[in-house]
Amino acid sequence: MNVSSVDPVNTVEDPRLDGRAVRRIAFGEEQISARVRELGQAITQAYPDGDLLVLGLLKGSFIFLSDLVREIRRPLQVDFLVASSYGDATVSSGSVRLVYDPETTLEGKHILLVEDIVDSGRTLSRLCDLLSERSPRSLEVCALLHKHVAEHLRYPTKFVGFDAPNEFLVGYGLDHAENFRHLPYIASLQS
Ligand code: IMP
Ligand code: MG
Repeated sequence: MNVSSVDPVNTVEDPRLDGRAVRRIAFGEEQISARVRELGQAITQAYPDGDLLVLGLLKGSFIFLSDLVREIRRPLQVDFLVASSYGDATVSSGSVRLVYDPETTLEGKHILLVEDIVDSGRTLSRLCDLLSERSPRSLEVCALLHKHVAEHLRYPTKFVGFDAPNEFLVGYGLDHAENFRHLPYIASLQS
């Protein structure tokens, strides 16, 4: 389906959707691919030398990461993280556990952590605390979307695709109860 042909306020004709849920397309396919290309260029320029390990935080980053790495024109390696947070009521660090940990060492490498969306930033700061203990050469974050709701983030997101509206977004990897990850565009679930 060509997204440009989708009515922005009524996407119920898309067979991928539960027609009741999705209200509008926040970022279309072409808009996303143009922005991902720009991010790839910026990342390429930001790392003139050294080993670069791109770490995708699963599951939300899987589509973004696969498009992004193909726009980075320098050698790199790809691995993934699966984090399981517990004690969600507390903001204390250390309450994140890696269910899947990258096989390669992080020591001495540029680490680029790729995340789908930064909301409170809690997931990120916990993960960055954990990763920075492993002596990487550098540690930066690339997020497709950023809600800019958190007042103070200890780890600023160096590369941001889009400033996101404060709505619940799905598609292009982002889910609602594991649904909608496969949408090629990003849609808002709020009416
Ligand atoms: P944070 O720890 O509050 O920054 O939340 C980040 C995580 O929450 C993301 O990696 C997503 O999995 C999820 N999340 C936050 N906002 C949204 C959204 O609008 N749609 C889908 N997932 C979201
Ligand atoms: Mg999620």
